[in-house]
Amino acid sequence: MGPQHDDLGISSSSRRSFLSLSAAASAALALRIVTEPMLAHAAGRNFPKDGIKINANENPLGPSASAREASTAMVAQGGRYSVWLVDDLVNILAEKEGVRAEQVSVYAGSTEPLHYTVAAFCSAQRSYVTADPGFEGGMITAEAIGAKVVKVPLTKTYDHDVKAMLAAGPGAGVFYVCNPNNPTGTMTSHSDIEYLVENKPKGSVVLVDEAYIHFSDTASVMDLVKAGKDVLLLRTFSKIYGMAGLRCGAIFARPDLLEKIENYGGGNFMPVTALVAASASLKDAQLVPDRKRVNARIRGEVFEWLDRNGYSYIPSEANFFMLDTKRPAKPAIDAMAKQNVFIGRIWPAMPTYSRVTIGTAPEMEQFQVAWQKVMTGAVTASVGAVPGWGELPRRRNREDAGIRA
Ligand SMILES: Cc1ncc(COP(=O)(O)O)c(C=O)c1O
Repeated sequence: MGPQHDDLGISSSSRRSFLSLSAAASAALALRIVTEPMLAHAAGRNFPKDGIKINANENPLGPSASAREASTAMVAQGGRYSVWLVDDLVNILAEKEGVRAEQVSVYAGSTEPLHYTVAAFCSAQRSYVTADPGFEGGMITAEAIGAKVVKVPLTKTYDHDVKAMLAAGPGAGVFYVCNPNNPTGTMTSHSDIEYLVENKPKGSVVLVDEAYIHFSDTASVMDLVKAGKDVLLLRTFSKIYGMAGLRCGAIFARPDLLEKIENYGGGNFMPVTALVAASASLKDAQLVPDRKRVNARIRGEVFEWLDRNGYSYIPSEANFFMLDTKRPAKPAIDAMAKQNVFIGRIWPAMPTYSRVTIGTAPEMEQFQVAWQKVMTGAVTASVGAVPGWGELPRRRNREDAGIRA
């Protein structure tokens, strides 16, 4: 009798060998991967269809026309793994960024390589050093594998305090830099990141998350990858390319670093619809500049309106910004929700702020109308409906909380 196959046509023996690829892989199976939508949906809400959803840094424009076309045409071939589509995308990315194909790996979003990097380079002995406030995803992995999470406050101008990060992480495994930073949308200079790379302890890596870089004028650190430094650089198709639900992301680094993280999830297949949509998006030379301009225009209009009305916020370079509610932020978020406008979560380091995503111009007009009502006290809500970070439901009651991703 031949090997037994499951519904996916993967033989039980090859599945076993995949799973026993390394001790690392089995450790990865125990990891709890936390994504932006999980964090955004921790409120446990089922958003009404007509709700203004400006809470999860999604792109309301969705995939580009060419991405939709490519993806739709690929559906009929969805019965096949078509692994060469990965090579096509890797080659396009490598050419575009001026790196070698061996320096690029693609995944179903940047969440996976982010988590695998933390799993590969952090441990009980090697801490995870990150900014505060910062994107929480990697912290969860660090906690899950017993690595210490060291949160270093941003500077007064909301950039990463790289000297303080170095001082806080003499035995670090990963220094995580999100640029522009989620949730503040602020930039850290190339020279500061370079300083971190040049002065970090031996054996550690710098993980630079450029999920939002296309919205900003921030300098990428792709040159540090090209130069073969201990840098892993994350990019995603979820933000400016509008493919959050299609799922595609990439990580750029030296091949030996990529190999380490591939032990954790590199054996998986990619959704073919996402691969062709990503390739089509990259071939559209106008897509990034056009969308950057649209986002900057709407963001600028919102900031002007906030300024005119005396409301506080942190000026941002991304497709989101931190809005000062001038009180514990929960009741303000709930009061917005009462008006069908769903703004983002709260970070403990900035308890009076809520993160707001830039939606379409009409959506942001509705945001303004609702915000005016909240700030004038015309609409109020009591504390308690929206859990903040740290109150996220654990696996046991995740379903009750509406977390599906
Ligand atoms: C900073 C940052 N990194 C990574 C991710 C993961 O995104 P994705 O897995 O959709 O690429 C997000 C999601 O919002 C994010 O904000």
